[in-house]
Amino acid sequence: MITDPEGMMAVLQHEAKKFTKTAIDARILGPATKEGLLSVHGEQWKRQRKAVAPMFRKRHMEDLAPLIATTLDDFCAGLDTQPNVELNSAMAELTFDVLAKALLGNPQGLDGEKLKYATRNMVTSAGTLRPDDLLPFPAWVPRPISPKGSLALKRLKKAADKLIAERKINPVEDDLVSLLIAAKDPKTGEGLSAREQRDNLIGFFIAGHETTALTLTWALYLVGKHAPTAERIREEVLSVCGPDGNVAYDQMAELKFIQAVIDETMRLYPPAPMLNRLCHEDTVICEREVKAGDTFLLCNYVMHRTERLWDNPLAFDPDRFLRDPSLKAKGAPYMPFGAGPRICVGAAFATMEAVMSLARLVRDYDIKVPEECYPKPLMTVTLRPEGGVPARMDRA
Ligand code: HEM
Repeated sequence: MITDPEGMMAVLQHEAKKFTKTAIDARILGPATKEGLLSVHGEQWKRQRKAVAPMFRKRHMEDLAPLIATTLDDFCAGLDTQPNVELNSAMAELTFDVLAKALLGNPQGLDGEKLKYATRNMVTSAGTLRPDDLLPFPAWVPRPISPKGSLALKRLKKAADKLIAERKINPVEDDLVSLLIAAKDPKTGEGLSAREQRDNLIGFFIAGHETTALTLTWALYLVGKHAPTAERIREEVLSVCGPDGNVAYDQMAELKFIQAVIDETMRLYPPAPMLNRLCHEDTVICEREVKAGDTFLLCNYVMHRTERLWDNPLAFDPDRFLRDPSLKAKGAPYMPFGAGPRICVGAAFATMEAVMSLARLVRDYDIKVPEECYPKPLMTVTLRPEGGVPARMDRA
């Protein structure tokens, strides 16, 4: 297990060619997205990454910001009628809706609620790490998932196939599915196969909605417990964006404190708390010999809370990122999005969504988390608050 930045950078970046993801990842993600970016390796990964990365460039992010804004309007209208929420479920609803709008636009004839239900079921049943996931089963032994999870998966695949087929007939400009269908390796001009398109679409839903939801859940929990932070966020949004509406794309860079709150939240509660790699070629990592066949667990959760690497690591102190911007530099002991060539492809999108959502929700609502609520971070594939976070959100 690696828990320091030198080791992480060695495995994820400098020696990345000697490592792939392990059978644990293949077992958990394979049934849903075997041919997608999350799971593939080698040349197939390289081709897909080159084709898909431009979808998440700044130009498209600017187009997606208004979609996040309208989803937040709808979400707030719901909160006004139902202020008692469980934060994790509420944030998963919000981030799913954002992703559905960004990925799919407004598809005709697609039942969004059904798709949401299927994806949530899939993520909660299949995305939970179990003891048998760590046993060395050969790749052909299927991973049992609940009947509910497996039905959800079937529905998800069917919906994704249908959607891609429709988009091919009626192309829509600039939603992410259309970009995915048009995606090409810029050098070779090679695109993705139909199966790769489907698996990537599903992969984006899986990788992109629960992680961002957890960032917002833990951020609102921390802010709900810490009134001075809520007050500073409110002041910052009021001075940059005024009392109404949403954050515009070009205002984002000015919301420095909110960005620092998101950074500090992902330090204490990294949504993807542990990555894994399998070594394929003997090498030396941090002065230790490692062999082909060795498995590595890379735990950013531990690294982010290590005394040797951080001042006062267990304190919630967003200002540390404002005092010292080098804490986010390449090679620093902060890697919520991973590192190296397989660093999260959706990081800019996730960050934009988290900053816009936190700004709007904290400016407009008083968030109350019960005094006795201190949820234990539960390590599944993601870092979930055990038992959820009950909260009340009343208009400020
Ligand atoms: C706060 C939110 C997010 C966090 C913390 C996060 C975290 C991560 C991490 C740590 C990895 C690297 C995994 C590894 O190296 O084994 C990763 C990869 C990935 N993420 Fe994210 N992610 C987030 C949001 C998103 C979003 C919004 C999308 C897409 C819509 C996305 C799509 C992906 C994909 C496709 C990969 C695989 C990239 C590759 O292997 O080339 N993620 N993410």
